[in-house]
This record gives sequence, C-alpha cells and structure tokens, in this order.
Amino acid sequence: GKGAAFAGIVAGRRDRVGLIILDRPQALNALNRQAMDAVVAAATLFDLDETIGAIVLTGAGRAFAAGADIKEMAELSYAEATARDLFAGWDALTRIRTPLIAAVNGFALGGGCELAMMCDVIIAADTAKFGQPEINLGVVPGMGGTQRLTRAVGKAKAMELILTGRMMDAREAESAGLVARVVAAAELLDDVLTMAAGIAAKSLPALQAATELVDAAFDSTLTEGVARERRVFHAGFALDDQKEGMRAFIEKREPRFTHR
Ligand code: HXC
Repeated sequence: GKGAAFAGIVAGRRDRVGLIILDRPQALNALNRQAMDAVVAAATLFDLDETIGAIVLTGAGRAFAAGADIKEMAELSYAEATARDLFAGWDALTRIRTPLIAAVNGFALGGGCELAMMCDVIIAADTAKFGQPEINLGVVPGMGGTQRLTRAVGKAKAMELILTGRMMDAREAESAGLVARVVAAAELLDDVLTMAAGIAAKSLPALQAATELVDAAFDSTLTEGVARERRVFHAGFALDDQKEGMRAFIEKREPRFTHR
C-alpha cells in the first residue's frame, strides 16, 4: 500500500497488516532518538487503527538494527542518560496490543536484538545475526537484553552471549528458542506478511488475550498464570467470535470473525 515517511523509517500497509521498515541503511539502521520516536508513533497509530490486525517490523538493507546509535550516545554524561531515562521510550512498544512481528533480515545487535525481543514473535532470515555486543563498548545491555534474552534462551546461553559479546546466527538463535522460524532471506518479507495477514484475520480480542497470557507467563507464578488463563478462557464465551469460531468448525466452513 501507500507508504508514509517518518524520520528514519518507512511505514505502510498491505490490507490489514501494518508494516514498519527501519530505514537508515547507511548506519545499519542504528536506533537514534528519531527512529525511536518514529517507530513508537507508527506502531501506536497502527494499534489505534481498527482496520489493522497485525504489525510487522523489519529493516532496510543488511541490518534489522545494529543497535542503539553509538555516535549519538558516546559523549553523554551520566546525568544526561539518567535525566532522559535513555531508551525508556521503547517500552511503549510493549504496550502495543496488536500482534507485533519482527522480521529480522540481518544484524540484530544490542538495541536491535532487544527491539526484536520486545515484539511478540521473531521470524529470522537465514542471514540474520543476533547478539548483545554492549560489553565490547564497556557497557551492559540497556533495552531489556539481560532480562528478555535470559528468559528466551536460559541463563547459560544468555550469560555466554552477554559476557563475550559474540554474534549468533539464525539457526543457533532458532535452536536456542529466540526465533520462531528461519526463512530464506529472499522470502522473508513475503513470508512474514503472509503470516501476519493470517493472524490479522483472527479474532482480535482472542489475539490480545493470547499475547497478554503468554507475556504473563514471565511475570507470574505458574498457579497464578494458569488461573488467569482459565478466567480469560471463560470470558471468551462472552464474545460472538467464540460462537462463530466454534459453529464454523462444526459447519465445516471458514469462520468470519466480527471483532477483527
Ligand atoms: C551508530 C553504526 C552502528 C551503531 C553500525 N553503524 N552500527 N552507527 N551506531 N550501533 C555504522 C558504522 O559506523 C558505519 O558508518 C556504518 O554503520 C556501516 O557499518 P560498518 O561497521 O562499516 O559495517 P561492517 O564492517 O559490515 O560491520 C557491521 C557490524 C558493525 C558488525 C554490525 O557495524 C558493528 O559492530 N556495529 C556496532 C554493533 C554494536 O556494538 N551494537 C550495540 C550498540 S549499543 P560509517 O559512517 O563509518 O560508514 C546498544 C546499547 C543499548 O545497542 C543499551 C546500552 C547502553
């Protein structure tokens, strides 16, 4: 569809799928302040748009994002970093309730890896490279890497990656559980847009409940999480989408959900 340019990104849509492309390829899509504001704004607008049922985030060129913009932050003082609450603005993405899919086309390093991990699902090109190289810059990850990578791949691998700063390829990321699927690079965007269109055809309240419950698995005890899931499951019977979905199955036809 028609695209709109914010600073550092391109946003557009294909039917019910919103697409956000990080677009500073000459800097390997390093995440500066403008890119943060633009991604958050585009994702928020898509989230408010009732005709958008899924959002895809990807990068132009050979990177998804090679991290926070080192040139922008190199000379910051502690006072500036803390007063600005550097990188806290990205947290807005975790409040986006429309399913958000990262199509990782190349380097996803530092803040780029952390940005991918803020999305609901990561699909990677076979050429993708993941890592938290902050240790090589004399710092630690600052956009959730120590927390989300550890939850995604476990302590052993997270610790090794964060202490060495090395990159891992797409296959390793898939076997470690960071990435849902690996796709040939040339097919990545089509594949993910097709997947997103399929998701966007489902019941939005059911999708929102599902992402909320999976996220709750990392933030609650098993007993609390299972109890919450059961109540949310029960609440699904208040929606006509539940009736439509189950009747369509029994009548051997495709469901037509009202709340998309
Ligand atoms: C600013 C960056 C950048 C970055 C690349 N560039 N990554 N600029 N911030 N994170 C720029 C380069 O300076 C260069 O600009 C251009 O992009 C192309 O990069 P090259 O290095 O020439 O490409 P290549 O040799 O192919 O190496 C690719 C690479 C390397 C391995 C990905 O660029 C790299 O190591 N990048 C930094 C990765 C990193 O450390 N990320 C973590 C950032 S810290 P010019 O102008 O020279 O052409 C982070 C922290 C979050 O994310 C919170 C902690 C505080």
